Amino acid sequence: MPTTRADGAAPPDTADLTRLRRAAADCTGCGLHRAATQTVFGEGPCRAEILVAGEQPGDQEDRRGKPFVGPAGRLLDEALAEAGFQREVLSATNVVKHFKFTERGKRRIHEKPSRAEVVACRPWLVAELRAVRPRSLLLLGATAAQSVYGPSFRITRQRGEPSAPPDELAGLCTVAVATVHPSAVLRAPDRETARAEVVADLRAAREG
Ligand code: URA
Repeated sequence: MPTTRADGAAPPDTADLTRLRRAAADCTGCGLHRAATQTVFGEGPCRAEILVAGEQPGDQEDRRGKPFVGPAGRLLDEALAEAGFQREVLSATNVVKHFKFTERGKRRIHEKPSRAEVVACRPWLVAELRAVRPRSLLLLGATAAQSVYGPSFRITRQRGEPSAPPDELAGLCTVAVATVHPSAVLRAPDRETARAEVVADLRAAREG
């Protein structure tokens, strides 16, 4: 029977983003909700043309409750604009909706989510896709790409290649494209080249 309320892990059976967001706020589908400040759900128009999915909220996103509002988000915004995307056609989310971190003194250091945490959060991504019905799904970084295509997906080999979504997501978007995560660009020794490569992937996504 379809669920109408979150039972702690499963999204309710609805395409209403406001209801999904409310239900996700109480998600206990993995242990990450215990240390995180809040669930960071997707943001953007309810019928966006493109859904951009990152790995997980960072420190600032966790505090503010919105995706991509920190340094990686600023780089992403610039790269998207340079690739010709208009802000109003985009929605942004993460494949894991709680910040995973370790504390080092006063600092909270990002920790990569485990496969089990990614899998636990996947129904929320599927629910968002059902609600938003974007033409394109833009996957930022290996964790996001592997959430959709499985752990054998390699960003280094498959980035910038528009492809059909896997069967399970068929009908929920037309095309998916992966690129390097903006945080990786910020850490790259040659940041300008890394940034230009991401812009090229985003252009391929726009045209794909
Ligand atoms: N990195 C992500 O993957 N998502 C965010 O929202 C912020 C940083």
